[in-house]
Amino acid sequence: MRSGFKSIETKYMEEREALFHRLRDLDRRSFLKMSAAAMGAAAASGLTPFHSFQPVSVAQGAAPAGGGKAFRFAYISDSHLYEKHINDRFVRSLLRAVEDVNNLSPQPDFVFYGGDLAQLGQAKELELGAQILKNIEVPLKMMVGEHDWYLDMGEKWRELFGAPTYSWDHKGIHFVTLLSVVERDFWTARKMTPMQRMMTVAGLDNGVQSPFMVGEEQRDWLKKDLAGYLDDTPIIIFSHSPLYKLYKKWNFWTDDADEVQAILKRFQRVVVIHGHTHQLLTNRIGDIHFHGMLATAWPWPYAPEGMPELTIEMSRPDPFNPNDGCGDGEVHVHPDGLVDKVYSLWNRTPIAVRRGHTASWGKEDVPPRPNRASY
Ligand SMILES: [Fe+2]
Ligand SMILES: [Fe+2]
Repeated sequence: MRSGFKSIETKYMEEREALFHRLRDLDRRSFLKMSAAAMGAAAASGLTPFHSFQPVSVAQGAAPAGGGKAFRFAYISDSHLYEKHINDRFVRSLLRAVEDVNNLSPQPDFVFYGGDLAQLGQAKELELGAQILKNIEVPLKMMVGEHDWYLDMGEKWRELFGAPTYSWDHKGIHFVTLLSVVERDFWTARKMTPMQRMMTVAGLDNGVQSPFMVGEEQRDWLKKDLAGYLDDTPIIIFSHSPLYKLYKKWNFWTDDADEVQAILKRFQRVVVIHGHTHQLLTNRIGDIHFHGMLATAWPWPYAPEGMPELTIEMSRPDPFNPNDGCGDGEVHVHPDGLVDKVYSLWNRTPIAVRRGHTASWGKEDVPPRPNRASY
């Protein structure tokens, strides 16, 4: 590894660790107490304890391709858990997201977790995440992020959550989860330890790691998986990194995105939902509609170039509020497979980026501008 070089993420990590070392442990009993207090307050007031997600009316008139029904799922991502003696704030953020989704009424059909559950892929980080996510009351679907994987190459993640690449059908939609953070082997020739490999991948702009990709093996799997579906089947793909090329220096990028998009090209309606960028992103390439979702841990700044035209950037985080810019969200799936993305910055009113915005290439249903400058 190059010595003396510190990536922006490493610098962030060090600053955060210095801060959180000063915090005392928050033990399991405190979590439960906080949780119970919030639930009690909600029951007493008849309100949900934190923000309530605003219901988004589902437009009528869209012809269902597969005879599906409108439904919604919730989305939580990028919690970057350290062991709680190092950092309890990220733990509490994930706990809050779990409470948010458990307070949705009616409950979503499922919750999707968008990757980067752990910070450094350690068994204790992943176990802590699994323990918290067990409190979700509806089915949970999991996806891998690079921070979960590169210490033991996914051994612990698979033990806890199963296969990283899979698909299923739900109410007329075909869903696919990919592992989009495959990297070429940069570690063997450099004789890196597993932790050196993990730290290198965790630093987005260190110039050592390879760009993320889906890789040939999964692309072949995807072709086979989709082979039996007609062109008018609505497809929703989950990837951790955006399945397009946004900004390579920060790995806001999937190197074989063009090849994956080519596999999806024959379908009339495809939605790709990703985490990793810790910010709101909206994009459309051909008939593929892309939605980037929030992190619970921290917001990344927007990349200095390559921003998709359909993106209306979210508000700049308030520097006096460590949780500003963080949150969770919902995805309302229309019968035709296109979606309304509802993002809930925790101290702001939830905002919807509706189906019509990407369907009209930004001409209709323009989402409200944020109440502060973007970042
Ligand atoms: Fe992340
Ligand atoms: Fe990530």
